[in-house]
Amino acid sequence: MTADFLGLSGVHVFVTGASGGVGLATSRAFLEQGAKVTLHYNTTSTTLAPLVAEYPSTTCMVQARIDDEAEIERAFAQANSALGPVQVLIVNHGIWPAKDILLKDMSLEHWGHTLSVNLTGSFLAIRSFMQQLVHYRVQDNVAVVMIGSTAGKFGEWYHADYAVTKSAMMGGLTLSLKNEIVQFCPRGRVNTVAPGWIRTPMAEPTLANKQVVERAFATSPLNKISEPEDVARCILFLASERAAGNITGHVVDVNAGMEGRIINPVTVLPKL
Ligand SMILES: NC(=O)c1ccc[n+]([C@@H]2O[C@H](COP(=O)([O-])OP(=O)(O)OC[C@H]3O[C@@H](n4cnc5c(N)ncnc54)[C@H](OP(=O)(O)O)[C@@H]3O)[C@@H](O)[C@H]2O)c1
Repeated sequence: MTADFLGLSGVHVFVTGASGGVGLATSRAFLEQGAKVTLHYNTTSTTLAPLVAEYPSTTCMVQARIDDEAEIERAFAQANSALGPVQVLIVNHGIWPAKDILLKDMSLEHWGHTLSVNLTGSFLAIRSFMQQLVHYRVQDNVAVVMIGSTAGKFGEWYHADYAVTKSAMMGGLTLSLKNEIVQFCPRGRVNTVAPGWIRTPMAEPTLANKQVVERAFATSPLNKISEPEDVARCILFLASERAAGNITGHVVDVNAGMEGRIINPVTVLPKL
């Protein structure tokens, strides 16, 4: 690839959940392209330290609970004063509560927490991002890329709370915001990446379960668990005005070509 093929050199990117598996790989990929990156984290700054040491003048670390209005506003103010106006927002943070719970048994607290972090947190980050776009009159290489999930497309039994947040991002948010952003940034774009299983701290314990993996990949022709870099490269493509400047309102699957879910064992056939 020629230097700055994607035109991302000098572009300021804000990555939520930069301290996690996908966030870290995505942040590194942007930095390698010459972008400036605000690295958001909540509880884990240690994973980010090597990146900051390697790219001291083009990184800025900000801590915030993603669903706390004041903390997110402060994080964007810090990002603006350290690296200038943010042009690209990667909405990557997220939780996937690992315990299997049927919705009929789900507590309001459990439901509310997942929605608050995954969905309200996304709303708050996107709102702050858009407000500073207007305030600083940002026009060049403006993009939002959200991270959805196969759960948002096919549903996910025992994890309806998580699936709902991802469907909302992949549907209502992506489709509404692609029409809103052009009101103040005529070339601004909003897209979402929808991965299947990715080898990250979020998924590692579940991927140790052979049965889960077999079910998940039974309809996936490529039969491949994504590495964080597989997702990161797709995010970079969508974030680049040069590469994806006429693409908006789309959800791009990064899921080995998954066709759906296996619900019944294949040996259980319906009576004819
Ligand atoms: N892994 C998969 O198989 C998979 C599949 C499909 C979609 N996804 C999606 O991909 C994205 C990245 O997932 P990942 O696998 O990289 O997860 P991960 O390694 O667990 O990282 C999650 C990130 O979200 C941040 N976060 C969690 N709760 C937060 C809160 N309350 N406030 C602020 N930040 C918070 C974490 O920050 P701290 O660590 O600093 O607290 C961390 O940086 C998520 O949106 C996830 O839903 C993952």
